[in-house]
Amino acid sequence: MGLPQSGIFALGTSAHSVVELELIDPDAAPSCLAAIARFALELNTTNGVNLVVGIRPSLFMRLTDIPVMAEDFSSPIEGPEAFSMPATQADIWLWFAAGSQDRAFDCTRKALSLVSGIAKTVRATTGWTYQGNRDLTGFIDGTENPPAAEASAVALIGEPARLAGSSIALVQRWRHDLDSFSSLGTAEQERVFGRTKPDSVEFDEDRMPADAHVARTSLKVGSESLPIYRRSMPYGDAADHGLLFIAFTHDQGRIALMLASMAGETDGVRDALTHFSTPESGAYYFVPSFELLEEIAAGS
Ligand code: HEM
Repeated sequence: MGLPQSGIFALGTSAHSVVELELIDPDAAPSCLAAIARFALELNTTNGVNLVVGIRPSLFMRLTDIPVMAEDFSSPIEGPEAFSMPATQADIWLWFAAGSQDRAFDCTRKALSLVSGIAKTVRATTGWTYQGNRDLTGFIDGTENPPAAEASAVALIGEPARLAGSSIALVQRWRHDLDSFSSLGTAEQERVFGRTKPDSVEFDEDRMPADAHVARTSLKVGSESLPIYRRSMPYGDAADHGLLFIAFTHDQGRIALMLASMAGETDGVRDALTHFSTPESGAYYFVPSFELLEEIAAGS
């Protein structure tokens, strides 16, 4: 079994810095990724900050010739009433998680300085925790996440052996309209999610609205449920804020199905949440195992 990048499962960090980078010169990809990989390997052993590195699937495959069974987020996902989830695929994704914002900030700046002139930042997001484990809407986020003992089987690729311990991440920034959401009464807010607000109790089937977020994302094939491992976080400031959705899976197809279901692409029923939160970005990243990261670091 390959070892995963440890930050995928490092819980309890309250300060996050997330950047998406685009290569300025595609020919510089090997040296850029080698610099990032070396930095990640050092950081995880000496600095106490978790860094997860993701690479655009098509870029990883071009550089390594290893098929990863993952595609770029290359076209928007459309739904009724002109709803659209934009495709904003970048080349490299870095997620720093630390106990304090200064540590995450300093490490991000250091990583960016290593690739200065060869890659540019296209999106930077500061994430933090809100009231323990709540989304900024006030609802508990993560209730149905797989427990620690099951998380690695959900998040990590098992086979083929060359990919074992790797993962596929969706990174999608959702901007909330909290004024609009707060204008709903608590009962209406609960219908948006399909769960109660104070304690996250799921509605019974006969009470669950077809467009509730839980109804749109709790997917099954036959009787088998399709879990993903979510590590989302609130982001932003008082004027501009929302949820930075991050999820890991060994099977990209199930995340794609969830997005299509939320957008109403499949049956015309849009997730009620999409009336109060707007996706501003969307990208998939291949998250190489520790061993593959070492190979990338040695590459150039
Ligand atoms: C504005 C963006 C989003 C917000 C605020 C949000 C929030 C929530 C909340 C509060 C829950 C219920 C508690 C829990 O089980 O965690 C939930 C469940 C869930 N969400 Fe989201 N979510 C968002 C976007 C997404 C996206 C983009 C996906 C998938 C690609 C997704 C997948 C899921 C899944 C799989 C569940 C568990 C469903 C179940 O089995 O009960 N969410 N989300």
